[in-house]
Amino acid sequence: MKLSDTVVREKIRVEQQNAKTFLHDVIKGLNQYPKQLQSKYFYDQRGDRLFQEIMALPDYYLTRCEMDIFENKTAEIARGISADQTPFDLIELGAGDASKSMHVLRYLKNLDTDFRYMPIDISSNILSILDDKLKENISGLDIVCLEGEYFEMLHKASQLSLRRKVILFLGSNIGNMEIEEAYRFCSELRNNLNKDDVVMIGFDLKKEPNTILNAYNDKDGVTASFNLNLLERINKELQADFNLDKFEHYETYDPLTGACKSYLISLQEQSVSIGDHVFHFGENEPIYMEVSQKFSMEDTRKMALQSGFEPVYSIMDSRGWFVDVFWKAV
Ligand SMILES: C[S@@+](CC[C@H](N)C(=O)[O-])C[C@H]1O[C@@H](n2cnc3c(N)ncnc32)[C@H](O)[C@@H]1O
Repeated sequence: MKLSDTVVREKIRVEQQNAKTFLHDVIKGLNQYPKQLQSKYFYDQRGDRLFQEIMALPDYYLTRCEMDIFENKTAEIARGISADQTPFDLIELGAGDASKSMHVLRYLKNLDTDFRYMPIDISSNILSILDDKLKENISGLDIVCLEGEYFEMLHKASQLSLRRKVILFLGSNIGNMEIEEAYRFCSELRNNLNKDDVVMIGFDLKKEPNTILNAYNDKDGVTASFNLNLLERINKELQADFNLDKFEHYETYDPLTGACKSYLISLQEQSVSIGDHVFHFGENEPIYMEVSQKFSMEDTRKMALQSGFEPVYSIMDSRGWFVDVFWKAV
């Protein structure tokens, strides 16, 4: 058997497994009360494109804030990453199109730093966009793309190399987990690292409530399309018959808890089939789609200390709306 046959077979096996897991997660989520879908499934080809549109929306301040940090504090970030100057693997979890990290990758490369960039993402589509973009823009960059779930791929990265690790987890992706899940995530991250490895995490900070709400509730309906696209994806990939006109996007922000939540609301009583499964929706019944949790600086400190990290320093954007923290594994 030729090597390419083996690669193709392995790719088909992984795709079949992913489709099975997707079906399992959707069925499980819609059998819960309240009904729920996992936001990691937002990112198919159209979802990736819509998310790139969201990042460019005037009200979606998150990307611009973190971009401000990456464009204007690049040297500071590079210092935090380079730490003791020994060679390292720079592993980015949920890298997306790497539009922010690209600035620091170029900076490190220009300094002739000895590192390998390993972006991890569940979306093969966005990884190929990222790969093309970085190869075109940063010549000679040592890059290995890892397609799959955060920890599965982090494990794979550890099998490929024993160098010290620097983890990037940007865009307040950590806010897309429920608080207890975020704590568990950080502890598991720590268990996958060695003492003195470094993590850099982006947190969106609590601020004026309407500023937050508007970021997820744009007037042009891009965020609504992004949420509805998951129903479209389920229709396409899991033989379902969601009628998208019968669901509406609804966003809330609770300044007490810092949780910004998206829902799709069923506009009428209806039934939806997914393969052999039938789900009933009452009028005004919500499907819980995603949380975008907001944090105080004290929240981030507590999370570091409870999960085996020492907060080392932090960099804020010029408005003080977003923070990238550096933690050292202890
Ligand atoms: C909100 S986007 C942020 C992208 C990038 N970090 C940024 O700040 O612009 C989230 C990215 O994480 C990826 N992602 C979400 N859940 C994931 C998971 N469980 N494992 C791996 N990647 C995931 C998505 O495919 C998407 O590209």
